Amino acid sequence: MLALISLLTLAPSALSAPIFGLSIGSENAAATGQTSTLSLSDVQSSLLRPALFARVAYCSSASISNWTCGEPCTSLSNITFLQSGGDQGLIPLYYVAHDASDNSIAVAHQGTDSQSILSILNDVKFGLVDLNVTRFPDTAGKGIKVHSGFQQTFERTADGLLAGVLKGLSDTGAKKVTVAGHSLGAALATMTGAFIKKSVDPSVEVSVTGFGLPRGGNQAWADFLDSDVGVQYMTNQNDPVPIVPPRSLGFQHPSGEVHVVDDTQQNFVDCPGQDNDNCSTGNSVLKVDVSNHKGPYFNDLSFARSQCSD
Ligand SMILES: *[C@@H]1O[C@H](CO)[C@@H](O)[C@H](O)[C@H]1NC(C)=O
Ligand SMILES: *[C@@H]1O[C@H](CO)[C@@H](O)[C@H](O)[C@H]1NC(C)=O
Ligand SMILES: *[C@@H]1O[C@H](CO)[C@@H](O)[C@H](O)[C@H]1NC(C)=O
Ligand SMILES: *[C@@H]1O[C@H](CO)[C@@H](O)[C@H](O)[C@H]1NC(C)=O
Repeated sequence: MLALISLLTLAPSALSAPIFGLSIGSENAAATGQTSTLSLSDVQSSLLRPALFARVAYCSSASISNWTCGEPCTSLSNITFLQSGGDQGLIPLYYVAHDASDNSIAVAHQGTDSQSILSILNDVKFGLVDLNVTRFPDTAGKGIKVHSGFQQTFERTADGLLAGVLKGLSDTGAKKVTVAGHSLGAALATMTGAFIKKSVDPSVEVSVTGFGLPRGGNQAWADFLDSDVGVQYMTNQNDPVPIVPPRSLGFQHPSGEVHVVDDTQQNFVDCPGQDNDNCSTGNSVLKVDVSNHKGPYFNDLSFARSQCSD
């Protein structure tokens, strides 16, 4: 019920611009590319491991630090915890771990429930602000703007997190970094992924995967993620989070969407282009289902604290 109330408070601002000024959003073109069907095994091979890491980030830092968080932890073997930060309060938790099965470093950000993320996304005090060019000097002059709330949150842990990743890479000799998150954690993963990517040796492969990703920046940010980072993100059925903030306010998704058409039928599609109208972006604001935000997305996988033993 509370989730529904926050959704209703969301609807007017999400709707008003498209209804009262259809052309305002025209600078941000929607893609209309033909979707193609993905099998469950396609989905598992690219998304299962990041999903499992993202799920662990909802558990307590104490249980993550000795990898005893119940099913989310036991579903991932060969993991050595390296570092965590944040406080599960105002600063969402993140952790860094080593995955011996493919000698990679995993970074995952905790997310939040649909009610909290929708109220953040609906909060007018969080508009688009310039990406911090001190941190991303190569982006100067590109006009990149990001969601101010996401950037503020990212700034709180960025330096400590990067130090942990760099130490992990040098201690283990890993050549891969997997960055993952759900919800707010997915938005943070795009920023963290971009920051890690530009800070590590170019021989290190950085992959960024989000689940239930809200729009986090403008067209230039989406283009930058496409050209310099490469993001893959999964959206579930009629989850409203991926369609806010609206494009009419200048927000745009990067490419890389995989859409769950129906999780019980295991019907998944690959959505070419940015904001493909055949996927989440084409969902009507009038036909949302907030429970889709948590999941399950596939393999009965949902993202919530209730999945953890502690
Ligand atoms: C995708 O969108 C285009 C144009 O909007 C439409 O012609 C096409 O049938 C759609 N394809 C699928 C698979 O939905
Ligand atoms: C792991 O941490 C949890 C939470 O602090 C604690 O209850 C548990 O005893 C620890 N387990 C081991 C094996 O150290
Ligand atoms: C992963 O752990 C399993 C046991 O849990 C072990 O058999 C396997 O060798 C480990 N793989 C790697 C790459 O460490
Ligand atoms: C921008 O990034 C620098 C580090 O590169 C940091 O010191 C500074 O606080 C950041 N600015 C803002 C407004 O967050």
